[in-house]
Amino acid sequence: MGSVLMLLQLVLTFFLFWGLVKNGDAGITSSFIRTEWPSVDIPLDNEVFAVPDGHNAPQQVHITQGDYNGEAVIISWVTPDNPGSSKVQYGVSKAKYDFTAEGTVTNYTFYKYKSGYIHHCLLDGLEYDTKYYYKIGDGDSSREFWFQTPPMINPDAAYKFGIIGDLGQTYNSLSTLEHYMQSEAEAVLFVGDLSYADRYKYNDVGVRWDSWARFVERSAAYQPWMWSAGNHEIEYMPYMGEVLPFKSYLHRYPTPHSASKSSSPLWYAIRRASAHIIVLSSYSPFVKYTPQYIWLYNELEKVNREETPWLIVLMHVPIYNSNEAHFKEGESMRSVFEEWFVRYKVDIIFAGHVHAYERSYRISNIHYNVSTGNCYPVADKFAPVYITVGDGGNQEGLAAKFRDPQPDYSAFREASYGHSTLEIKNRTHAFYQWNRNDDGKQVATDAFVLHNQYWANNLRRRKLKKHHLRSVAGWIATQ
Ligand SMILES: *[C@@H]1O[C@H](CO)[C@@H](O)[C@H](O)[C@H]1NC(C)=O
Ligand SMILES: *[C@@H]1O[C@H](CO)[C@@H](O)[C@H](O)[C@H]1NC(C)=O
Ligand SMILES: *[C@@H]1O[C@H](CO)[C@@H](O)[C@H](O)[C@H]1NC(C)=O
Ligand SMILES: [Fe+2]
Repeated sequence: MGSVLMLLQLVLTFFLFWGLVKNGDAGITSSFIRTEWPSVDIPLDNEVFAVPDGHNAPQQVHITQGDYNGEAVIISWVTPDNPGSSKVQYGVSKAKYDFTAEGTVTNYTFYKYKSGYIHHCLLDGLEYDTKYYYKIGDGDSSREFWFQTPPMINPDAAYKFGIIGDLGQTYNSLSTLEHYMQSEAEAVLFVGDLSYADRYKYNDVGVRWDSWARFVERSAAYQPWMWSAGNHEIEYMPYMGEVLPFKSYLHRYPTPHSASKSSSPLWYAIRRASAHIIVLSSYSPFVKYTPQYIWLYNELEKVNREETPWLIVLMHVPIYNSNEAHFKEGESMRSVFEEWFVRYKVDIIFAGHVHAYERSYRISNIHYNVSTGNCYPVADKFAPVYITVGDGGNQEGLAAKFRDPQPDYSAFREASYGHSTLEIKNRTHAFYQWNRNDDGKQVATDAFVLHNQYWANNLRRRKLKKHHLRSVAGWIATQ
C-alpha cells in the first residue's frame, strides 16, 4: 500500500515538473501550450457589441474613480444621435434616486469620423462602502446601473483589484473579460492599450473605439477601471491628418488627475481602501525637469504608508522584461525612476505592452552610473516586484519568444492570455495571482503572498522593540 502511494506521488511530481523548464538558478519558463483562438477582432455585428434599445440610448457606459480618496466616481457614456441630457440620477436604492448631478458633453472628429456625444459626470461626496444605483438617458431610452464605493482609507482595509492589459476586442479579449468578471475583484487597474482601434484606418478607427467601449461596458459600467495610456492610444496618424497624440483616448477616458495635482490626465494618483496607486505615462516626457518627473517626486513624498500601506505603480512599458518583444524599451524609464521605486519601497509595479506574462524577483539595478559601478540587476529586498500582464488578448496575438537563457531577474514567464488579481488582506499581507484563461475560473497559474514593503519590516522591527522593552521591564521587575 505504502509503495503504491509512493509511486503515485513520484508520478505526480514528475507531471508537475514536466510542464516547467528550469534555466539554471534563474526562474521558470512555462512550456504550457495555450488553446488556439484566432487573434482576430470579433465582427461588429456580434452581440458583444450590441447597441442598446431605444432612440439615442446611452451606450459605452464606464466609470472611474473621481477623486483622490474614493468618495467620487466619474460616469462616462455616449449618446449617438443628439447630445441629450448629461444628467445622472443616483441614490442608495434602485427605485428612488435622491440625488442628481449634471455633467458635461463633448464630441470630436477623427478624419471624417464624427464621434457621438460623449458625456462625463462627476458624482462626489459619496458614502464609503455603499452600493449606489444610477440612471442615465432620457425617457424610454434611459438605462440603470450600479456600483459599490470602496471602504474608507484605512491601513487594514481589505480590497481586491484586478489587473488587465492590452485587451483589444478579439475572442481572446472576451475570454479574458469573462474570466476577470468571475474573479470577484472590485476594481480594475488597466495597464494601457485599450481598443487597438489604431490598427484600423480612416473612419474605422472611431468605430472600433465605440465598439470596444460597448464591449467592456458589462464590467466597466459597474466598477471603476483605472486607466493608463499605452502606445495604441497615441494614434499619431499623419496620413489622414491626425497628429494630436491621445486624441480619442483623452476625449473618452477621463481620469481624476487634478485631485492629485497632476497637470495631465495621462499621469495621476489615487488612494483606494489601503492602496496608493500611481499611474505613469510611458509615452509622455519623464526625464528630469519635466512635469511628470516633478509630479512623481512630489507624489512619492505624499505617500503615507501609515494610512495606505500598499504602494502600487502602473505603467505601460515594463522595466524588467525578458521577452524578445519590446526588449529594453523600459530602460529609459528605468534609468530615471528605478532609484525612487527602491527608495520609496514600492510594493509592486504592473505593466503591459508585452503580450505575455512575466514576474520578476525583487531586484534592482541602481548601482551603476556611467562613470563607474556594476551594471547588472542584483537581489534587493527594498525593490518592487515587477509584473508584466500585457496578455489581455488583442489582435496582435501572443509574444511567444522569450530570450534564452532566462535572465536572473525573471522569476516566472509564460506566453498565455490572462489577467491578474491582487487581494489585499490587511497592512502586511496581499494574495497575488495570475489567472490563465485556458484554466477557466480561478485557477492560479502563478500565485504568491506579497508582504508589504513598509509594514512587513516595520512590524518585525516593532516586535523586536517590544520584545526589547519587555526584557528591560523584566530586568527592572527582577531588580
Ligand atoms: C459637435 O456637435 C455639434 C452639435 O451637433 C456640431 O455642430 C459640431 O460640429 C460637433 N463638433 C465636432 C468637433 O464634431
Ligand atoms: C557613481 O558611483 C560611484 C561608485 O558607486 C560613486 O562613488 C559616485 O558618487 C557615483 N556618482 C554619481 C554622480 O552618482
Ligand atoms: C493579515 O492577513 C494575513 C493573511 O490573511 C494573516 O495571516 C495575518 O495574521 C493578518 N495580520 C493581522 C495583523 O491581522
Ligand atoms: Fe503596447
